[in-house]
Formats: sequence, structure tokens, C-alpha cells
Amino acid sequence: MNILVLGSGGREHAFAHQLARSEKCSRIFVAPGNAGTATIATNVSLNVNDFDAVKELVLEEKIEMVVVGPEDPLVGGISDFFARDPHLREVMVIGPSQKGAQLEGSKEVAKEFMLRHGIPTAAYKSFTADNLEAGKAFLQELKPPYVLKADGLAAGKGVLILQDLEEAQQELENMLKNDKFGSAGSTVVIEEFLDGIELSVFVLTDGKNYAVLPTAKDYKRIGEGDQGLNTGGMGAVSPVPFADSALMEKITNRIIIPTVEGLHKDDINYKGFLFLGLMMVGEDPYVIEYNVRMGDPETEVVLPRIEADLVETLQRTWEGRLDEVDLRVDPRTAATVVLVSGGYPEAYEKGKPITGLDKVKDALVFHAGTRMENNQVLTNGGRVLAVTAFGEDYQEAINKSYQNASQVHFDKIYYRKDIGFDLF
Ligand code: AMP
Ligand code: GLY
Repeated sequence: MNILVLGSGGREHAFAHQLARSEKCSRIFVAPGNAGTATIATNVSLNVNDFDAVKELVLEEKIEMVVVGPEDPLVGGISDFFARDPHLREVMVIGPSQKGAQLEGSKEVAKEFMLRHGIPTAAYKSFTADNLEAGKAFLQELKPPYVLKADGLAAGKGVLILQDLEEAQQELENMLKNDKFGSAGSTVVIEEFLDGIELSVFVLTDGKNYAVLPTAKDYKRIGEGDQGLNTGGMGAVSPVPFADSALMEKITNRIIIPTVEGLHKDDINYKGFLFLGLMMVGEDPYVIEYNVRMGDPETEVVLPRIEADLVETLQRTWEGRLDEVDLRVDPRTAATVVLVSGGYPEAYEKGKPITGLDKVKDALVFHAGTRMENNQVLTNGGRVLAVTAFGEDYQEAINKSYQNASQVHFDKIYYRKDIGFDLF
């Protein structure tokens, strides 16, 4: 079958890599893709939010499956667009309907969903410009730190955690009155601060059955020791050592099952990945956020550990027969280190030649922000490459990833040297 992956990051390269390994995969397309996906797939330059352009490609290349990487097209309703079109109806779109994607597209919708289905999450109230004063008064009732969340998509920047009450009240006003996050911040969720350890759990669901994928931990801050600005993610490891079977059972019973049943009860069509951002408060898991897609760079350690045929797994998901899939997982540890452009997550330069990729041995290099020009791979984004390696334990996987990362060079390269060090 011909398959299209939408997106251009390390996550999408990892998807293309894993899909291409299947005997069921004939041709694979990535739109828009990067220099890495170009080595295993046909890149097609298009905007993933231009559904008519996606339609044209799908019909022209007889594509039977579309795997949607990022959240934007899902929140924009790409699954419904396909379902409504008589020429596209049979195409297997892996990703939820627009209603399902609201679990990520609106924090308020997600909160209401959790409340309705008894899923543990931080207590909250939401506010708009019309009740700004009530919002300020609500903050006064809470204890610091104060957690403010822009309701809509804000490219991962819409959450503020503040110690000072006056600053929190001012930021609330900035979001509601001064368009701090544009329309994403016209509703703000204020919630209780949860103090604990974060954990990401990934689930694949056909709306009825579910499969729990390997756990992962990502490293969000730019600096070593988790200091400095938030990024898309500077590295990841899988599995997470403290997520043992007892904890996973608790998470399954208290969160995963009620979530999948909630989707069903609410008549939400959901065939795709669900990313649970969790906080362990003592022994109890709480949902911090839902994402309706896989994480990046978590995908770069989660997918390579899945031994089941990914094309077949996704096909069964589409058919509502995910219960027939045996999702075998490689017991080894995977680690990935993300190589970024100096300056990221603030301003950085692009177009730097990348060398040493041919020296990488026994590791997978997933491209994120790269492009090809005259047979030379150039940097083309903040996050440039993710170097994934396997090991019998954390130490081996991480060392191997760093050894290979050190072979790669470009001007102003930067990466954290402490990914996974908290684990041993
Ligand atoms: P989100 O975009 O919802 O994942 O939030 C970004 C980050 O803010 C999370 O990864 C957490 O580290 C933190 N965070 C979000 N909500 C809370 C909360 N209620 N309590 C503590 N930390 C939070
Ligand atoms: N690495 C976090 C995310 O993909 O949202």
C-alpha cells in the first residue's frame, strides 16, 4: 500500500522509517518532509493544513493510508474532511476527528471531558475577558505557584507557572485583554499546581480497543540540569524506569480506560494516537494534558522499540480491530539526543552544512530541521537531528547515542550532555 506521512520533524522521520520496514508498504510519501525522509520516501512540498492539496496528492499517488504527525491538521479537521469526501472516505486517516482533537485543541474541552468521566486532573476554573476580575479573585484564593493555561493551541508556549500573585494576575490580564497568545488565550484555564514527577504515556486507540505503547520521558529545558527555556524536547529515553507494571496498571484503570470509554460515550470518533502527559503526585497519577498525536522526540525512542508491523497495526486501528494486534516491544532501552542550532529556542541561523552523518554506526539518525541542497545536508530548523541508540541498559543506550552524536558536526551545534543522567 502507498502511505503518506504528514509533517516534517524527527517524529515524522521515525514514522516513515518504521512504516517503510513493513512488507505491506509499497511507496511512502512525506509532506513536506526533510533531508532524512528524502532518503527513504518521496518528499512532497505542501502545507499540511491545505487539505485540498493533500487530497490531490492522495488521489494522484493512490495513497491508502495517511498518518498525521502534528496536531494542527487534526484540530483543523483533516479526518472529517476525508470522511466527508466520497473519493477519500476509504482512505485510512490515522488521527482523531476534529471533536476528538479538541482534547488538545482546547484545554477547557479537555478539562470538561476529564470532569465528566471522572479522570483525575488538577482542580480548575476557566475565565474570559468578561470575568477577568473573577479570575484575579480566584487566583487570590489559591496558593502559589499559579498555573495559567491559554485554552487554545499556542505551540507549546501557552502554559505559565508563576510564584508571584500580582505577576499571575497581570499575566492573566495580558492573556485575556492584551492578546498575549492571540486567540489561543481568549479563554484561560487556571488550575491547581500539581507537585510531582512527570511521565508520558502513549496509547493507540481505535475508539473502542486500546494498546499501551512504551513509556518515555523527555527533557524539555534547553540547559543541563533542567535549566533555562522550554524547548520542543532535547532528548528522550524509553522505557521510564519507575513506570513498573503496578504503576501502569493504576494508570490504565484510572486514566486510560475511562478516557477510551469517555470517547465512546461522547460519541467521539478517535482512531489514532493519544499522548497522556501525567503527573505522579505521590502514588497517584493525574492528567496534566492530552495530546492527540505522538510526542517529539518521544516518538524517536518509542516507535523503534515496537516490533509489531506498524502498517498492519495502524490498519487494524482503522478497522476497529486493534484487539487483534500483538504489540511486541523490544525489551532494550532506547535513548535519543537532540542536536540543535545554537541559539534555539530563541533566534538561530539556518543553512549550515552538516558533516559526519556517514560516521554514525549502530544508531538511527532521525532528521528534524534539515534540507538537502546540491547533495549537501543543511540545517533548516532549531531542532536539527535526533540520534537514537539502543542498549541493554540506560547507560549503554545513552553512551552509544552520545558517541554517535559526537561524530556529527555543524556550525554552532548544541546539545545537552546530561540526557538520561537522572536515571542512573
Ligand atoms: P502542558 O503544555 O499542559 O503540558 O504544560 C507544560 C508543562 O507545564 C508541563 O509539562 C508541566 O511541567 C507543567 N504543568 C502544567 N500543568 C501543571 C500543573 N497543574 N501543575 C504543575 N505543573 C504543571
Ligand atoms: N515532547 C513533547 C511534545 O511533543 O509535546
